[in-house]
Amino acid sequence: MLDAASTPQVTRLADYRPPAWTVPAIALDFDLDDKATRVTSRLTVERGEGGPLVLDGEGLRLISLSVDGKPLGDGDYSYADDKLTITLNGDSHIVESVVEISPIANTQLMGLYASEGMLCTQCEAEGFRRITFFPDRPDVLSRFTVKMTADKARYPVLLSNGNRVAAGEGKDGRHWAEWEDPFPKPCYLFALVAGDLSALKDEFVTASGRKVELGIWVREADVPRCRHAMDALKSSMRWDEQVYGREYDLDLFNIVAVSDFNFGAMENKGLNIFNSKYILADADTATDLDFDNVAAVVAHEYFHNWTGNRITCRDWFQLSLKEGLTVYRDQEFSADHGSRAVKRIEDVRMLRAVQFQEDSGPLAHPVRPESYMEISNFYTATIYNKGAEVIRMLATLLGADRYRAGCDLYFDRHDGQAVTIEDWVKAHEDANGLDLTQFRRWYAQAGTPRVAVSSRYDAASKSLEIDLAQSTPPTPGQDSKAPFHIPLDVALFGRDSGARLGDPRLIELKDSSATIRLDDVAEPPVLSINRGFSAPIAIDAPQTREELAHLSAHDDDPFARYEALQRLALLTLTDAIRRGDEVADPALVDAVAATLDSGLDPAFIGEAVLLPSEAFIGDQMPTVDPDAIHGVREATRRTLGSQLNDRWWSAYRANRDNRYELNPEAKGRRRLKNVALGYLVADADPKAVSTTFEQFGDADNMTDRLAALGLLTSLEVGEREAALAAFHARYKNDPLVLDKWFATQALSTHPDALDQVIALSRHADFSRTNPNRFRALIGSFGANQPRFHAADGGGYAFLANEVLAVDGLNSQSAARMVQPLTRWRRFGADRAALMRAELERILATPGLSKDVYEVVSKGLA
Ligand code: PHE
Ligand code: ZN
Repeated sequence: MLDAASTPQVTRLADYRPPAWTVPAIALDFDLDDKATRVTSRLTVERGEGGPLVLDGEGLRLISLSVDGKPLGDGDYSYADDKLTITLNGDSHIVESVVEISPIANTQLMGLYASEGMLCTQCEAEGFRRITFFPDRPDVLSRFTVKMTADKARYPVLLSNGNRVAAGEGKDGRHWAEWEDPFPKPCYLFALVAGDLSALKDEFVTASGRKVELGIWVREADVPRCRHAMDALKSSMRWDEQVYGREYDLDLFNIVAVSDFNFGAMENKGLNIFNSKYILADADTATDLDFDNVAAVVAHEYFHNWTGNRITCRDWFQLSLKEGLTVYRDQEFSADHGSRAVKRIEDVRMLRAVQFQEDSGPLAHPVRPESYMEISNFYTATIYNKGAEVIRMLATLLGADRYRAGCDLYFDRHDGQAVTIEDWVKAHEDANGLDLTQFRRWYAQAGTPRVAVSSRYDAASKSLEIDLAQSTPPTPGQDSKAPFHIPLDVALFGRDSGARLGDPRLIELKDSSATIRLDDVAEPPVLSINRGFSAPIAIDAPQTREELAHLSAHDDDPFARYEALQRLALLTLTDAIRRGDEVADPALVDAVAATLDSGLDPAFIGEAVLLPSEAFIGDQMPTVDPDAIHGVREATRRTLGSQLNDRWWSAYRANRDNRYELNPEAKGRRRLKNVALGYLVADADPKAVSTTFEQFGDADNMTDRLAALGLLTSLEVGEREAALAAFHARYKNDPLVLDKWFATQALSTHPDALDQVIALSRHADFSRTNPNRFRALIGSFGANQPRFHAADGGGYAFLANEVLAVDGLNSQSAARMVQPLTRWRRFGADRAALMRAELERILATPGLSKDVYEVVSKGLA
């Protein structure tokens, strides 16, 4: 924590130096107890670049310290500012320390902590220093052996990385186990779990015939809810063999689910630890989206075994080396196991909703940042999702075979090392004899590029000229940008025939502007550009509504088709907002009708007919006006609801009576059905409201029940309270479902939503120490554009109070939740002043964490 006078230190990429000492081996001995755990660690240290040995250690009660067996006295070392410094004379020593820590007092959930009676660890990025003294940086790779002793009744299961090599009984009802991980690893991949757990077990035989024992460890009652995660794990293992040629490398792979966890999950070597939200799933408690997320996160963590663990990061500025690549891998895995088009639509929607906002705000940073105060603040959509888009562009530019050759060289060259993004790019260059100099700018420059597009058709020569011009707005610390290397997937469709004219082609825009000429264009064309979202950019194309409607009916790339309809809707909505009008354009109504009648995959239709989110509409406006956006968008939903009433009812009825099944087809039908119901309810069709209430009561699955609850919660009808009460009564003992109950109300557009959220923050089931619960209420409310941005500033004050209330308990939660306030510049003067005032109030509060300090001070700068 900070005192008033000190501002946190900035860490810079430019200051990177190789480690002064390496630690080839570490032996840990844990005497586990939830109140006081004793950790004995024995480090073998070897001189690297030289200088004194400096070990990180945070909040450790030091009990004893020795070097080569000789106890150190007070004068032989110093321990200040979370650093233990020892001057050593030789080139190799054994440094042994004994410390005491308290898992139960650890509300930050970093290091060793207690969660519902079990003990577990979280070390990425800098949690290991809260367990023992160590050079806590990813380029120090060590062989770990771990012994732990604990009360056998409370902690019958003892797990760590690698293989269990010995176990036995101790005195006083205690028992012990010893684990050894043969692969050297950075300390952020260390993990330990002790608890009363049961496992769903299975096995996997790798391509080369190695038998791997798989276990997912949860509370006994939850074992039946692990099947989906286990199946996802096995298909991930197979997929990585088939697509990347990567096999699993240990005899054991364990996953543990915990209820209190800061992020989604963690890829510790051989012992992944998951937020239970991304493991437990059954029809009664998990939605289709939850099932998809479980599979995606299981795959993501598994894929880290090669992209993250076997090859890790040299320093935390390289975070996207493992995260961007691993997100790209999990996206492709999901695309291969469901609808590729719908997956792409979902990923792009998320990128635009979160990453584009980040890129245009005060916290914008490159995929490879150059400085940070608190690394926990850099687990961002830019590092993860834009990082994945950069890999996707590389794969597009190279083509499948060359991309695979580059990956193979990367794995061959760097297995067992801690490397940089530069090493990754270089491997692709060297494998393929390419120069990717300009492409590297995607890692170095922040901001979302805009590409202006215009085109001219010449009937006489049957050619089309396309003018392209790119520009990228300034971001903090980067006033002007050099041009990016942008892959643009382009196709033409006949204005009259609707047919595709020729093959799609990939244009590479490298200069700030360029003119491309396409020949043999048989008829006047409509241009489809950035198909499949081939680059993470914004396109400015002066396309008419007719052209967009045309593409939404004829483009043969489903993403482009979706995109055309979204742009048509966006044009309609932003026009209406500008005119202060609420009339929906008939072109939009017709295009939505045509999409409903298209006979395409219901999952696709369900996505395509949704209007752009209020946040995304706001992004297109010079000043965000949340009330106008909400008013016009709702009015447009009403118009679509009433004018297409029959079609929505037939979409609803056609997809309603399927008995619950979990496969892509059934999920798609549920999706379309619930989207249709949403439009009917938006139009206040009384029959729709009673149908929704019936669906809420009769549903045989969480997707349908929650969809109905969500619709009712935004209405001012009697069924609202009845449904909320029934849902709470039914699921009050299921924390993951109760999170949905909180989130649904926090996202409600009911006029009293703010008061309801304030009341919920005093509810007996609310918690600030459980990140899932805190995020369900506070995080969701921060994303509720119309209600969070209530004109009187009540939403801002409430959020700021919650940030301050949680900061002393869990600073990562606090820093995440405060972010919506940092977007004040995008709003009108009154709201901006209110938001700023809350940021200033937070900044003036004594004892702020460095996490919150960094976000708020940058947000005000
Ligand atoms: N490395 C984890 C992942 O993305 C995320 C994570 C970061 C988890 C920090 C916990 C703490 O897979
Ligand atoms: Zn990851």
